[in-house]
Amino acid sequence: MRIGLIGLGRIGAFHADTLIRHDEVDELVVTDAMPGMAEAAASRLGATPVADAEALLASRLDGVVIASSTPTHLGLLRAAVAAGIPTFCEKPVAEDPYAVAGLVGEIERSGVPVQIGFPRRFDPAFVAAKAASDAGELGWLTTVRSTTMDPAPPPAAYVASSGGIFRDCAIHDFDAVRWVTGREVVEVYAVGGNRGDALFADANDVDTASTLLTFDDGTLGVVSDTRYNGQGYDVRLELHGSEGSISAGLDDGLPFRSADPTLAFPAGPAHTFFMDRFATAFQIELSTFLAVAAGRQASPCTITDGLEASWIAEAATLSLHEHRPVRLDDVRG
Ligand SMILES: NC(=O)c1ccc[n+]([C@@H]2O[C@H](COP(=O)([O-])OP(=O)(O)OC[C@H]3O[C@@H](n4cnc5c(N)ncnc54)[C@H](O)[C@@H]3O)[C@@H](O)[C@H]2O)c1
Repeated sequence: MRIGLIGLGRIGAFHADTLIRHDEVDELVVTDAMPGMAEAAASRLGATPVADAEALLASRLDGVVIASSTPTHLGLLRAAVAAGIPTFCEKPVAEDPYAVAGLVGEIERSGVPVQIGFPRRFDPAFVAAKAASDAGELGWLTTVRSTTMDPAPPPAAYVASSGGIFRDCAIHDFDAVRWVTGREVVEVYAVGGNRGDALFADANDVDTASTLLTFDDGTLGVVSDTRYNGQGYDVRLELHGSEGSISAGLDDGLPFRSADPTLAFPAGPAHTFFMDRFATAFQIELSTFLAVAAGRQASPCTITDGLEASWIAEAATLSLHEHRPVRLDDVRG
């Protein structure tokens, strides 16, 4: 297959390594807006550099991966779909869910497969937790907890264009809790804190946030996020049910210390960031996309899934700024 990759930053470079090594990829065509970056990646990997996204999309591709900065996603996704190219687009689809909503019909009418990048759906522990819940092993769910604690903040320029902690970071939690429960969120209440660098306040963002969610069947969700978790990268999903509980992320790499001196768990070393914690999930995610692009399976994470997670992020952002619970129906309009 001839696959294109737009954006070679933190996640794009990781995807480039996965794609170039994949059995099904014969040629990887790459581009980045930063001068020299595509050429450097191309010579390191043996990929083909092109000048820009427009040239890349015109180069007879079997599929394209959009891993550029968030504000570029919507325009590139629209252009890729218009060119009839099966597309993988990193989360979030856009900062503005109203703009994404306008694109959903266009994508559905085109019949071009689109997969949105939510890697937790491919992590073996997350998959096992969902399977246990789906099989009824936990009874009915009382509480779903999802946690994303980044070890250190991203660069100020990234924060400024990220759309804020809910659209950039908590969106993984919002997608995970929707996916694992198979239910929709009807109301959120979010709070935020800013005890770290002023770069977050400067971007009208917060460095730490907690969100309470109510699902349409009465299950409660608790989502917790921070940019400052010095001990490491802590991502967990906890499902608590009437008959059982299960956790994804409760492994030896959990960056937590037990206060009980008789316990040696977790034994470490701690996960340092998403690259090491989710390396396998990212690889399975892109393998799955190649199968989607080749027409062997339907997209496991559609534009509608991306949009629904974005509505929750929108409601959480509004809730934070207005200090009140927000119904999803009210933001959907
Ligand atoms: N799924 C995940 O777990 C995950 C993890 C990290 C980032 N992301 C998402 O991936 C995207 C990129 O994040 P990142 O951390 O790699 O950011 P980054 O800033 O490190 O890299 C973005 C790259 O895109 C390039 N770029 C910007 N506009 C472009 C354009 N029009 N054409 C070509 N290249 C362009 C930039 O020059 C830069 O090299 C973001 O939307 C982010 O939310 C997803």
